[in-house]
Amino acid sequence: MAIITNAPRGTQDILPEQSGKWQYIEKTALDTAGKFGFHEIRVPTFEHTELFCRSVGDGTDVVQKEMYTFCDKGNRSITLRPEGTAGVMRAMLQNSLLAGPLPVKASYVVNCFRYEKPQTGRLREFHQFGVEMAGAAAPVADAQVIALAKAIFDRLGIRDLALELNSIGCPECRSKYHQALKAYFAGHQEALCETCQSRLETNPMRILDCKSPVCQKIAAEAPKITDYLCEACAAHFREVQEHLEMMGIAFTVNPSIVRGLDYYTRTVFEFVSSGIGAQGTVCGGGRYDGLIETLGGQPTPSIGFAMGLERLLLVMEQQDCNFPSGETCAVYFGSMGSEASKKAAWLCKGLREAGFYAECDLMGRSVKAQMKYADKLGAKYSCIIGEKEMQEGKAIIKRMEDGETAELPLECGPLVEFLSAAFSPNP
Ligand code: HAM
Repeated sequence: MAIITNAPRGTQDILPEQSGKWQYIEKTALDTAGKFGFHEIRVPTFEHTELFCRSVGDGTDVVQKEMYTFCDKGNRSITLRPEGTAGVMRAMLQNSLLAGPLPVKASYVVNCFRYEKPQTGRLREFHQFGVEMAGAAAPVADAQVIALAKAIFDRLGIRDLALELNSIGCPECRSKYHQALKAYFAGHQEALCETCQSRLETNPMRILDCKSPVCQKIAAEAPKITDYLCEACAAHFREVQEHLEMMGIAFTVNPSIVRGLDYYTRTVFEFVSSGIGAQGTVCGGGRYDGLIETLGGQPTPSIGFAMGLERLLLVMEQQDCNFPSGETCAVYFGSMGSEASKKAAWLCKGLREAGFYAECDLMGRSVKAQMKYADKLGAKYSCIIGEKEMQEGKAIIKRMEDGETAELPLECGPLVEFLSAAFSPNP
């Protein structure tokens, strides 16, 4: 028989055997964010299209080429979120969170959708862990958000991610910089790729980000934003760096980090891995001081980041990071006959209520096959209940590892006591 269809290109199933890794990463990230005062927010998977056009920016690749946009049955234009920031900011505004004490901090785990060309580390549905902090303008806030990302990587045991930092200034210094860039690239217009020729008018900074070798070569000699920062932006950037130095967080200033979304101002940063191929940016973020105003709120300086969980997992696997092992099956009850099967299920219920992972036969297999299955499960103990055991009300419990046995009554209390001793770290 043939399956009627596979999952759409660029999507990925997370199977039961892998989900423990995902839960561990998500829990570690959320928990670490909690230590910085960030608590989880959950927002809708889809929003009105306009939200992303206004925040991410009409001219960006994300809005122009990559969004999953459709008309719902009420004829509204709806978009599956391509990223988390816009929805979180919309929720903060709509729920008047910004009227309370500032800064407002939120963390999130979201699935995102972008119609990109799939490759390793690049999917059409992917997952992000992110944080957003609204209302804090000071450089210490930037440094704290970066320190949080670093703390998550450290707790997961990830090494050797390069932190690249830049400032893209405020709209004022950026407009001077745009002019300088336009003048420079205009001198190389013919050589630029087609996309960059059109970027020349709309957003010359994106040329710095182009992957074409020719454009990259031209961009290497382009004027640097850091030479065009106004005094306030330059001072802010300096202080962010001083905070990072104080915390011992290594970074390099990379003037070609411009980020692909329009809302950024001042500090932008990326954590990059060199071990997972072309899509090495594991985490990206920055300040977006103008976004909340664009969405209809009061001017509210804000900053955040998002890390791609698929890429994070790739890095962890490539670096052989430790993951906690799944829960061990404490005991597998084998049984012969329907009365014994009921007894086994009843014992499982009692053990589970006491916090143990217990299994019994669900397939009506032979005892030999049941034991083989218990072995595959990695059960620590097994116990076979047959006619004799039912009559005597006791059975042999066997440690699978070495075959050591003990005889116990077929009652929950003594079994719980026995397993508690066997599983306690200091027997
Ligand atoms: P972004 O750089 O577009 O920023 O995405 C953040 C991270 O999501 C990337 O560094 C990457 O790890 C992952 N990512 C992006 N696209 C894909 C994809 N197609 N497949 C797999 N992973 C992907 C943002 O989304 C901003 N909202 C980050 C932010 C939050 N800035 C401030 N606050």
